[in-house]
Amino acid sequence: MFTAIASLLTLSLYLLSVNAHGYVQDVQIGSTHYTGYLPYQDPYMNPQPQRIIRKIPGNGPITDVKSIDMQCNGNTAGGSPGTSPAPLVAKVAAGSDVKLTWTTWPESHKGPALTYMARAPSDITKWNPGTSAVWFKVAEAGKTSAGWAATDVLYANNHVYTFKIPPKLKPGQYIIRHELIALHESFGYPGSQFYPSCIQVEVTGSGTALPTSGLVSFPGAYTQSSPGIVYNIYTNTSAYPIPGPAVWKGGN
Ligand SMILES: *[C@@H]1O[C@H](CO)[C@@H](O)[C@H](O)[C@H]1NC(C)=O
Repeated sequence: MFTAIASLLTLSLYLLSVNAHGYVQDVQIGSTHYTGYLPYQDPYMNPQPQRIIRKIPGNGPITDVKSIDMQCNGNTAGGSPGTSPAPLVAKVAAGSDVKLTWTTWPESHKGPALTYMARAPSDITKWNPGTSAVWFKVAEAGKTSAGWAATDVLYANNHVYTFKIPPKLKPGQYIIRHELIALHESFGYPGSQFYPSCIQVEVTGSGTALPTSGLVSFPGAYTQSSPGIVYNIYTNTSAYPIPGPAVWKGGN
């Protein structure tokens, strides 16, 4: 009897861990912390907390590379929350580190970590990029001698992912689109799991750099035949090709 209950408990904990994926729950800039959009808490609070991260429906993945949900997360069937701007904007000096803390992230979800930015042409709290090509990549990490960015490297850093705002980036409002891709089912398409998160910032400084070419759209940046979208992590010992454009170096 006890054994049966214990194994039932083990089984349900296992199922729970399989279902629990993740999202960014904290953004740290300097010594300031901004709580992320908390999908299992924020919608039920009155008044609803104001965040710098655009709404997400939960901790689950996007798997359709053609979906608008690829941009900032969402749930197209129920209206895409990720396309709604957030009310707040965090100030960040060009050249500073931004630290993003992920919730529980399963060991099975090996994959790369990627970060893009897009400059808002007008008030970011009202701006929706739609399918315009406005995004440039500022950081990427895949499979290295330290392991996979989304698991080994994230765990080694207590679930904190760090990237740098390009030091010479022109001041203004930007959406940071940070994403982990989980490759545990990427033997075919669909299979890869995308976990994007959109953070609203105002970059300060005296830089003048801005990429003028090579901008991509979301959806659009990835197709089912882009390198790194279909990749067998269990059998493929070749280098992992990180999807999307090259990292923009013009702001360094
Ligand atoms: C391994 O991955 C590389 C890069 O995506 C690809 O070019 C190659 O065909 C893959 N090899 C196998 C055996 O799947």
